[in-house]
Amino acid sequence: MSPTILAIESSCDETSAAVIRNGKILNNIIATQSVHQRYGGVVPELASRAHQKHIVPVVDQALKEAGIDKHQLDAVAFTQGPGLLGALLVGSSFAKAMAWGLGVPLIAVNHMQAHILAHFIEDPKPVFPFLCLTVSGGHTQIVLVESPMHMQVIGETQDDAVGEAFDKAAKMLELPYPGGPFIDKLAQKGNPEAFRFPLSEMPGLNYSFSGIKTAILYFLRDQTKTDPTFVENNINDICASIQHTLIHMLLQKLKKAAKQTGIKQIAIAGGVAANSGLRQALENQRTELGWEVYIPKFEYCTDNAAMIAMTAHFKYLEKDFSSMDVAPMPRMKF
Ligand code: KG4
Ligand code: ZN
Repeated sequence: MSPTILAIESSCDETSAAVIRNGKILNNIIATQSVHQRYGGVVPELASRAHQKHIVPVVDQALKEAGIDKHQLDAVAFTQGPGLLGALLVGSSFAKAMAWGLGVPLIAVNHMQAHILAHFIEDPKPVFPFLCLTVSGGHTQIVLVESPMHMQVIGETQDDAVGEAFDKAAKMLELPYPGGPFIDKLAQKGNPEAFRFPLSEMPGLNYSFSGIKTAILYFLRDQTKTDPTFVENNINDICASIQHTLIHMLLQKLKKAAKQTGIKQIAIAGGVAANSGLRQALENQRTELGWEVYIPKFEYCTDNAAMIAMTAHFKYLEKDFSSMDVAPMPRMKF
């Protein structure tokens, strides 16, 4: 079987389409929505409207660049969830209409599973079983991956996601949205030991990032009381210290999970996997703990349709198709 599948991603603020043929990604078209920047966060209603505007040209471009006529498609896939309901509705309605019109199967994909299966787009590919630290603006999970279709969350945040902690800290520092990449950039010029923030004490393999957010807020309030230019003069050190603390928290539980399961195949996925400090910290574990570390290309870390297409390929092989009444699931679990 060598299926050709069109996949659509519309769970948050990127409208994306990709074509996969015989398990090989042919392209990955992404239209990023800049409309949210001035609001300092994603505005759901604006996201839905932007998806509606972008979806036809993005799909057209994906098919055209791949040199595929729509009648050559064997299936149409889309992100079912988790994500913003209005945003998911645009992608799911479009995919259903297209699959119905072409008379081909429809494949509903879990966005978090897809972030993990992005590792199978390019070599080197992780060997099963592996652990995946999935870190994005909406999620922070440690997943035990036994096969493309069998994965289990063994630890996760009980409140904020780590990407949210990056973005909220950046907002307090008056950096643009999304702030994660800005903190990363400034942190590279700062001292990670300059300031200390309390680490959360969560049981087991779970995380909590709401405490550090409050700690940063109080820290900045106290420092600027005595020195109004504190942030301006120490921005690199503040960013480096915040990033260092967040990475330390991520690594602490990941190391615990690796020890508990005896697994040394470690992968990272999601937007925060683009963070240079986190990538370096994981690389260091190759020599320190003998881990095999898998870090996807930046393009496949943040939201994209190539990962939806890769997941759809695996589902196609299992004939795991959806009926036309399948609904988007904003809080979809594995
Ligand atoms: O996976 P993603 O593109 O979208 C969600 O599904 O959430 O992740 C977006 C998140 C944002 O919080 C953004 O600030 C963060 O990933 N991010 C980073 C970096 N690049 C993106 N955080 C830290 N350092 C980065 N270099
Ligand atoms: Zn995502």
